[in-house]
Amino acid sequence: MRHFIYFSGKAVTTGNFKDLMKAGRMDIAIHVIIASFFLSHDVRKDTKLHLVFYGMPDPPKHIEIQIKEGLDISKKDVANLIKKILYKYKPGKKTEVFPGCFIEKKSFLNLINELIEEGKTIFILDKRGEDIRKIKIPDNAVFVLGDHEGLPKKEIKRLKKIAKEISIGPKVYFASQVVAVLNNELDRRGV
Ligand SMILES: C[S@@+](CC[C@H](N)C(=O)[O-])C[C@H]1O[C@@H](n2cnc3c(N)ncnc32)[C@H](O)[C@@H]1O
Repeated sequence: MRHFIYFSGKAVTTGNFKDLMKAGRMDIAIHVIIASFFLSHDVRKDTKLHLVFYGMPDPPKHIEIQIKEGLDISKKDVANLIKKILYKYKPGKKTEVFPGCFIEKKSFLNLINELIEEGKTIFILDKRGEDIRKIKIPDNAVFVLGDHEGLPKKEIKRLKKIAKEISIGPKVYFASQVVAVLNNELDRRGV
């Protein structure tokens, strides 16, 4: 199973949004979902995506998506999927809204600590990191990336002590492009 964590400092934490750009750049989160799961005539079932939203009105929210039997997901309607998941949040519990889709209140660092406790290896995506082509990637890798404003500085300072920073190339890419390149790299390595 490959894991991606997409952190967004502004993506809204209510399903009551219309304009994707004004909803804390929900358009970027949607592109990340599409790049995580969709292939031509197929979907990836070996991928778990964690969306961590810190926008108003009730941050933080952790949405977990994995494509499971019974999940009705279309790349034409990802915004509605996010809306429905956000609407179904219930305080104090992790709610399975659709098969493989969960929502709960959880901070970025708590999520990462939980994944470390499960024995996963964390990689922080950063242009200045070590070239991914020189890095061995284990089966249980978790890739952490940010939105248009990047990753949160304070948390990343702490994370750098326990996670490796890796780069996919010399340019600054869109978050969704980073996911596409990572998926391709893992496919080629058979991870
Ligand atoms: C559009 S970029 C963010 C740009 C933001 N202004 C910054 O400086 O972080 C979105 C995310 O993609 C990842 N990213 C972009 N280019 C990358 C690269 N060359 N190597 C690794 N990760 C990259 C980073 O995690 C970044 O937070």
